[in-house]
Amino acid sequence: MPHPVLTALGLGNTESGTYLGNGEWSSDASAGVLEPVNPTDGEVLAQVRGTSTGDYETVIARAQEAFQQWRRTPAPRRGEAVRLCADALRRNKDALGSLVALEMGKSKPEGDGEVQEMIDIGEFAVGLSRQLYGLTMHSERPGHRMYEQWHPVGLVGIISAFNFPVAVWAWNAFVAAACGDICIWKPSPKTPLSAIASMKICNEALKEGGFPDIFFLINDAGTELAQSFVDDRRIPLISFTGSTKVGRQVGERVARRMGRSLLELGGNNAIIVDQTADLKLAIPAIVFGAVGTCGQRCTSTRRLFVHASIYDSVVEKLVAGYRQVEQRIGDPTDPANLMGPLNSADAVRAYLATIEKAKAAGGTVASGGRALDDRKGHFVLPTIVTGLSNDAEVVQTETFAPILYVMKFEDLDEAIAMQNDVPQGLSSAIFTTDLRASERFLSAWGSDCGIANVNIGTSGAEIGGAFGGEKETGGGRESGSDAWKAYMRRQTNTINWSDAMPLAQGIKFDL
Ligand code: UN1
Repeated sequence: MPHPVLTALGLGNTESGTYLGNGEWSSDASAGVLEPVNPTDGEVLAQVRGTSTGDYETVIARAQEAFQQWRRTPAPRRGEAVRLCADALRRNKDALGSLVALEMGKSKPEGDGEVQEMIDIGEFAVGLSRQLYGLTMHSERPGHRMYEQWHPVGLVGIISAFNFPVAVWAWNAFVAAACGDICIWKPSPKTPLSAIASMKICNEALKEGGFPDIFFLINDAGTELAQSFVDDRRIPLISFTGSTKVGRQVGERVARRMGRSLLELGGNNAIIVDQTADLKLAIPAIVFGAVGTCGQRCTSTRRLFVHASIYDSVVEKLVAGYRQVEQRIGDPTDPANLMGPLNSADAVRAYLATIEKAKAAGGTVASGGRALDDRKGHFVLPTIVTGLSNDAEVVQTETFAPILYVMKFEDLDEAIAMQNDVPQGLSSAIFTTDLRASERFLSAWGSDCGIANVNIGTSGAEIGGAFGGEKETGGGRESGSDAWKAYMRRQTNTINWSDAMPLAQGIKFDL
């Protein structure tokens, strides 16, 4: 019997991982199977057939064909297609949110929140479809008009990570679809079921609305398919979310073929709490940032800098907050729980190894520090480590687990310098009621991250802004603001409507 959460979405024990277009899911079983595991009990949830080379070629051919039609479709009409997908997701929010919680291991409210992000970006993309604006320029020549327009790039490859198994696809796919692109999605091998369910919901809505296929799905039971996907010249843009290690390889491979990549890689996000901070705001934000999604967001809070004058009381309050969370660790599909398991046994090993390294480097475990191995699944305690300096190797490294390093500072410049002094540059925050401190933090000589917040934490970005970060985070921007430009090609047009042929820069070329 399939898990009831799967049944609710029409999924069974065996699923195809390849959507070929024309309403067809591949039945080719030659490319092996993926076995997504329920992180709560370690049981395999279902078998998902990987995508064969033959099926991959069919997907590319059909996606190319679809693009011929989609790029001729007016952008507001493309927006209508996305609107139908967002509506369908709204109707399925509870069921899909539960599947995300089940397969990824995040709490039910966070699973639902992820589906909400899909709906929100869908609505954003509907509006965007009427706002793909280019500039007009004044030509230096009389009787000439200059302007720029934005055209779709073509096929967009989306490689997403297990931690946001559906929202990251939607950030890319809904915006790209409004831009006129066709998307091919390769989800994380750990969360193919959430991807299959999302595709089914959206494709059915598109079909009912009389729209062509604009979203395709492939799944990878090994690493070969992913490599040929990344190397494929027929895909001008690869959007990759995942580790810095893999992202570096993706970026290099795509650059070699002069393709474009959009990289959303690791973070090592910090919160600064100064002596004027309102702790009623700071403490819950820190706990949610460090513990939410079991520390597996790229925006999770990993480092905390506290002013020396309030350091002891902040640590005490955090430890009390962690005690409360500890009472509510469990099955993530139960809305009463605040924290689910880590996603895999490997993640538990990485968590334990990092805590050992932190201790060996002189750190003290102020809270947590162990796996809950008396129960099934990949549960661990959220952990606070004190006494390390910012340049310790573990502090400089992103471990995808709920481990928070708490450090002291005396003056703000020192705190900002430490916050910036890591290889990553995704999200950052300051808690302060001092205007000068917050402006200093947000200034050009303040935080060097793609996201910098005041009196809210590092995680939980809204879709309306551009999301992404600097340095080893990869430099990509997705989601709101003008991130849509990454999915289009810019064309500069000059039109001579005069009856003369003047050359630019006043050049004379008399024939
Ligand atoms: C990610 O962790 O890959 O800001 C994305 C947040 C979410 C997105 C995180 N809106 O935490």
